[in-house]
Amino acid sequence: MNILFQNSLRLILVITMIFSVMSCGDSSEKKARDIIEKMSLEQKAQLVIGTSRGRPGRSDTVEMQETDYTRMVDSVRKYVPGAAGATAMFPEIGISSQVLADGPAGLRISPQRSDDTTRTFYCTAFPIATLLASSWDVNMIEDIGEVMGNEVLEYGVDVLLGPGMNLQRDPLCGRNFEYYSEDPLITGKMAAAMVRGVQSNGVGTSTKHFAVNNQETNRHSVNAIVSERALREIYLKGFEIAVKEGNPWTVMSSYNKVNGPYTSENHDLLTKILRDDWGFEGYVMTDWGGGSDVVKQMEAGNDLIMPGSPQQIEEIISAVNEGRLEEAIVDDNIARILKIMFKSPKYNNLGRTNSPDLEKHAEIAREAAANGMVLLKNENEALPLDKDIKTVAAFGNTSYEFISGGTGSGDVNEAYTISLIQGLTNAELEADGKLKETYETYIKEEREKRANSDDPRRFFMRGRRPVEEMELSSELVEEMAANTEIALITIGRNAGEGGDRRAEEGDFYLSEVEKDMIKNVTEAFGKQGKKTIVILNIAGVIETASWKDIPDAILCAWQPGQEGGNSVLDVLTGWINPCGKLAVSFPVSYNDCPSSDNFPGHAIESYEVDDAPDQSGFSFMRRVPWEVVYEEDIYVGYRYYSTFDKPVSYEFGYGLSYTTFEYSELETSSEDFKNEINVSVKITNTGETAGREVVQLYVSSPDGKLEKPEIELRAFGKTGLLEPGTSEVLTFSLVASDLASFDSESSTWLLEAGDYKLLVGASSEDIRAEAVFTVKQDIIAEIVSKALAPEQDINKLSKN
Ligand code: BGC
Repeated sequence: MNILFQNSLRLILVITMIFSVMSCGDSSEKKARDIIEKMSLEQKAQLVIGTSRGRPGRSDTVEMQETDYTRMVDSVRKYVPGAAGATAMFPEIGISSQVLADGPAGLRISPQRSDDTTRTFYCTAFPIATLLASSWDVNMIEDIGEVMGNEVLEYGVDVLLGPGMNLQRDPLCGRNFEYYSEDPLITGKMAAAMVRGVQSNGVGTSTKHFAVNNQETNRHSVNAIVSERALREIYLKGFEIAVKEGNPWTVMSSYNKVNGPYTSENHDLLTKILRDDWGFEGYVMTDWGGGSDVVKQMEAGNDLIMPGSPQQIEEIISAVNEGRLEEAIVDDNIARILKIMFKSPKYNNLGRTNSPDLEKHAEIAREAAANGMVLLKNENEALPLDKDIKTVAAFGNTSYEFISGGTGSGDVNEAYTISLIQGLTNAELEADGKLKETYETYIKEEREKRANSDDPRRFFMRGRRPVEEMELSSELVEEMAANTEIALITIGRNAGEGGDRRAEEGDFYLSEVEKDMIKNVTEAFGKQGKKTIVILNIAGVIETASWKDIPDAILCAWQPGQEGGNSVLDVLTGWINPCGKLAVSFPVSYNDCPSSDNFPGHAIESYEVDDAPDQSGFSFMRRVPWEVVYEEDIYVGYRYYSTFDKPVSYEFGYGLSYTTFEYSELETSSEDFKNEINVSVKITNTGETAGREVVQLYVSSPDGKLEKPEIELRAFGKTGLLEPGTSEVLTFSLVASDLASFDSESSTWLLEAGDYKLLVGASSEDIRAEAVFTVKQDIIAEIVSKALAPEQDINKLSKN
């Protein structure tokens, strides 16, 4: 069958499938129950437990004798090598396996297969989530999701383990690159768009890690203590939006505990909130090895245990036989797994080509990356690059070892990464050869020295930590300033699963060598009337306040995926006018962060393993700290900086363009809030270059029964490409639940009476137009379950 025909046939099948599943919730329930009736208890246990032969890190992993079950396990796990796991299949009663593979910056599978050495199975490394969020472009994220989901389908995977969508509570969280923002609205909107895009292919997603997995230090068993209000408004809000607006097939519970129990054993979280309050209909799976007690997990509504172990299967069987677990609960877990299975490609025999259009996807990744980069500084018309410039001195190791994405399970196996140097060549610019050779020799030597000295505990980082910056002699710098026309300096950072970053030089702070490089290069080039541009190839926030005045321009390129070097050049040359804005604040110093006092948990030394409660859960990490108290409460990111007047280096929402925009004609539908208010604003390109503007709508709410942050982002939008002199009117519509705060006393979303200020801005500090509306009397926007209350008092940050 030719590929075109096969694809069209598949598209028709996917559409029919989506419609038939949408229209027959009841019949799929019945179909599931009919299958369940045919299942033995053993099969039931094998289905709710993933198909692994052992639990990661557990010494009780056993050599299993070969049986029908182990043969089945081997065959489902072989179907897509490198996938994170698979569910069991029982074809004789109509149960197919579901293959689950990581995300979130692209599909993660093995690029090579031992049984087929004639071809490769690479996937596209898209820009990291933090970059995608900085585009503030929901449609673009949905488009990325669509092509990412196509790879999922073509490679025969049923569920992509992403998007990652924990809140960026603290800049040091090692996995921030997989997450979107410090703001729950952006997080939720981006994740929902990603889910819609991926799932439009008829494959599933798993929004993860639900919830409050905001650090890697002792991620397996740390107990996060958070107020009900901060949970609902900050840490759960993004998931709520993603569930309601994206309808993910599955949700992945996190490793950690929240206010006591493991999230995967938490009925309040997985049933009361996720299902009763938000209406989630899919299934919940554990993170790999997460939690401790499968009986509690089943009861909580954690339907699938991944990757699973034979011991866990035995435990389910004995728990049911001994009356410790009701079989009806397991049946409900299974019904949820089967209802998703009915939609899956494998069940519907969609087949796979194993040849997605990687070239087309790379082009989409390249454009997306450029649209999410943030221009932090641009003085002396340093950018876009002068068309006459031909020779470039590229400083910084990561110019040569460009970082496409972070490490760990979120690391995509892409075919290539375009470095800055390759990007320069592709843009017909010439990187100085002598400097290139000097760096390449240095990097090679350093990598050789390091080969055996990487910290074995940080196994995901092995070989992936950028090499320490090379000290530059003044002769070399001056020679470059004389012989080339512009300096580019790349500052690189990497991070990922299994470890948090550090508030140290060389990580959150620049090292002395890096600072000297920026200073000496800028000075030498400046003396020759030439410019210096710094490119940040980073996974998350770094300190910028102490050095940002020095270079002429700074471009935050994040980790832009496999086409990174090309995307950077698209922005530097002006092919794409930068239009990204920060979805996370850049504080002046780490200690200014509201979470810095208790990240990753206070008094690490004083908590010893013996003191810690409940050590039963799986972990291969040091179990300290075993508790982290979220004292900053609702004051995360800009909510804190704006309320407590703390200056930042670059504020939330900040980003420059090669053009300028004017905001005018702010109009609201009414001065009194009834059930809804519509807001419109006209954006005009007043500069000389075509460009796009991100428009942010903040609301300043009156303090009432509940205190309120100074500002909260309540809506945002992005213009199309506006030619100079042209305008676009953006409209936003807000209903009570968009504006309400969470009152934990009554478990309601409450919109309190008073005057509300609407602040329409180009950033959280650059407000261009204001209006006021009044809420005449308190409005209860929603009543929800009483759930997840902390057992202990929290010393909460308050402005009163
Ligand atoms: C990670 C998850 C990932 C899973 C499967 C875990 O260690 O936390 O994000 O999906 O492994 O690879």
